[in-house]
Amino acid sequence: MRSLIAGTGSFAPARVVPNSELEKLVDTNDQWIVERTGIRSRHLAGEDEATSDLAVKASLRALEAAKLDPKDVEAIIVGTITPDYPFPSAAAVIQGKLGNKKAFAFDVSAACAGSLYALAAADRFVASGATRNALVIGADTLSRITDWTDRNTCILFGDGAGAMVLTPTDDPRRGVLTTRLHTDGALVPILLQPGGGSKEPFSQKVLDSKSHYVKMNGREVFKVAVRALEESCREVLTAEKLTTGDVKYVIAHQANKRILDATLDRLEIPASKCWMNLEKYGNTSAASVPMTLDEANRAGWFQPGDVILMMAIGGGMAWGASVVRW
Ligand SMILES: CC(C)(COP(=O)(O)OP(=O)(O)OC[C@H]1O[C@@H](n2cnc3c(N)ncnc32)[C@H](O)[C@@H]1OP(=O)(O)O)[C@@H](O)C(=O)NCCC(=O)NCCS
Repeated sequence: MRSLIAGTGSFAPARVVPNSELEKLVDTNDQWIVERTGIRSRHLAGEDEATSDLAVKASLRALEAAKLDPKDVEAIIVGTITPDYPFPSAAAVIQGKLGNKKAFAFDVSAACAGSLYALAAADRFVASGATRNALVIGADTLSRITDWTDRNTCILFGDGAGAMVLTPTDDPRRGVLTTRLHTDGALVPILLQPGGGSKEPFSQKVLDSKSHYVKMNGREVFKVAVRALEESCREVLTAEKLTTGDVKYVIAHQANKRILDATLDRLEIPASKCWMNLEKYGNTSAASVPMTLDEANRAGWFQPGDVILMMAIGGGMAWGASVVRW
């Protein structure tokens, strides 16, 4: 038995912030941001919108598409690094808001790779028969942990949520085929939120030093990302005895257009096969992969049997790839 992606959904908050608005906050300009990243605008959550609010809206759309009653969901797994509270999990809050009592619910912390990690976990539950379905969510409000005076990071991020419903299938030609995950903890220092955890709990010092905001060595992240994404994509395709030529579509974490162009170039996959939306949303962290999947799906890209290659990388560094037959 395999798990099948039976429905997708996504949600972006209403407020759109174009690059021109960031020119007023930091020493940057629209041309630099577009040339170096491909990003033109991002959506930011309102003051009254937390990660769970975005996630619930995306989830209801995915559940409707899959024709699954929210009360019948048996597992809720959420990739996020910006839960509503340090604890309990965003997944528990979301379960409550969906009015569901049946599902066990937990978060996965793998930054921008969070939804791929969540998908890998959910796939195991559904494909093994342990649960009859699973709701996989990627949701983040990185705007809440972004330093809006740091031009190295604030130009990149946006808020959003995406969701996928997994159900079992006996059809050997369809479903989530192979997913591979990787982590390199030696790379923690190049992308992290240093303050506000148990190492440096919240204090006036944390606030003054702004250590509760995302810190990033962009050049290092860039280098690691291209190599890691290429390797894990090749790994999942090889495991399924597929080649890059068999790939019909690519759904990739929308970090930076140049990272994706370089990765696709190395894989010799035409860029036209990869759905892009970072010009509208920026890097939405764990939300990126399921939001992108949902946009491509609703645009009618996928037909049953199509080979779809998914990839993501984020802080940790944590990364991976998945090959799916729609
Ligand atoms: C962040 C990133 C866009 C920076 O692009 P880059 O080409 O590496 O740029 P550099 O950091 O080398 O900086 C080049 C120049 O632009 C300047 N610069 C940096 N940020 C700038 C900004 N927002 N606006 C204008 N100029 C900027 C730098 O100061 C530097 O100037 P100098 O040449 O006078 O020293 C790029 O490294 C990146 O995308 N990295 C990956 C980040 C990522 O995806 N993170 C999330 C992963 S999940």
